[in-house]
Amino acid sequence: MISVTSTKRGGSVTTTMGLPLFVLGKGADPHSERGVDCPGELPPASDPELVARAERAKAALGDRLFVLGHHYQRDEVIAFADVTGDSFKLAREAAARPGADYIVFCGVHFMAESADILTGDHQAVVLPDLAAGCSMADMATFDQVEECWEALEDAGVADRVVPITYMNSSADIKAFCGRHGGAVCTSSNAKRVLEWAFERGDKVLFLPDQHLGRNTAVRDLGMSLEDCVLYSPHHPSTKGVADAKMILWKGHCSVHGRFTRECVDDVRRRIPGVQVLVHPECRHEVVTASDLVGSTEFIIRTLEEAPAGSSWAIGTELNLVQRLARAHPDKSVTFLDKSVCYCSTMNRIDLPHLVWALESLVEGKIVNQITVDAETAHWARVALDRMLSIP
Ligand code: 13P
Ligand code: SF4
Repeated sequence: MISVTSTKRGGSVTTTMGLPLFVLGKGADPHSERGVDCPGELPPASDPELVARAERAKAALGDRLFVLGHHYQRDEVIAFADVTGDSFKLAREAAARPGADYIVFCGVHFMAESADILTGDHQAVVLPDLAAGCSMADMATFDQVEECWEALEDAGVADRVVPITYMNSSADIKAFCGRHGGAVCTSSNAKRVLEWAFERGDKVLFLPDQHLGRNTAVRDLGMSLEDCVLYSPHHPSTKGVADAKMILWKGHCSVHGRFTRECVDDVRRRIPGVQVLVHPECRHEVVTASDLVGSTEFIIRTLEEAPAGSSWAIGTELNLVQRLARAHPDKSVTFLDKSVCYCSTMNRIDLPHLVWALESLVEGKIVNQITVDAETAHWARVALDRMLSIP
């Protein structure tokens, strides 16, 4: 396992890459390999006293507190979320709560940054564990993106390129897109945002997830694979950009990247009639072989609307798939990959950290606050607002 520490505005974030197959099982020490100062004297998450402490702290904070939970969070954390959602829904929900003094974000760092950008100066956004980063977001740094843009300028195409960044990126990448006439997208609106972009330019620089960019361009906008060119920040080259419509940043999700075409073929052999439902962060060959593709919110809705007795193989993060299996005992729900793989950074937020964050707020101490500097926040907000205004 490789540990990468990057300093971002508001804190030091440690994310992991080259993830082991099974991560942070219940028996594991929840405080190992942490880069932050949660005191570590709290009992394990299964301790009923800890549940009671979380309930007491929430009750004490009342309407001053709003807890957001991404669908990949652990059950013990989701139990305390006021709202759960995909990244698009959570961004909207954060923006819609001006009355809450504290937004506790149970998700990952880029989501909390976006919440800080979309909320007022009087509100504090708290990420219960600063080690909850996203390895995909870390695959595009500001300097690398600037270098890429300069290369596109030298190649004489930059004025025809609209930069679009996936929500899974740092605030300064969002700000870069805002400054250069671009926008943010999420897995639930990538098609509409790309259509918006192609009304403004004839090329898109898509950051940082090559798979979401390629899948949306080919599946939803009818482009060919030849319309897409890959840009590697480690081997910068503008070869092919003059003819390409989509310039795809060479980044990916280390969790969704594990699903393979063989997993899809194998599950179809094992479960006759199974429908394969995957997240668009999966590789193109996986998406092409699947029946349905969409955001975490779409995956949940599809299962809710599916008839009893139907069979599903789902290619997304394991906490969500396990929850879906429990919520739909009348349907067969299988994890698409045979080996277990949680998103290790989403899993960093556990009940001990949540209790620590909430009890600190009760004592009047704001811990792990995520803040974005005013200049970055301004331009990132421009890019986020463009996304939010696209119908
Ligand atoms: P959603 O916006 O679909 O919830 O995806 C967020 C994410 O990080 C997926 O890996
Ligand atoms: Fe990032 Fe992938 Fe985890 Fe989503 S699942 S937060 S993209 S590492």
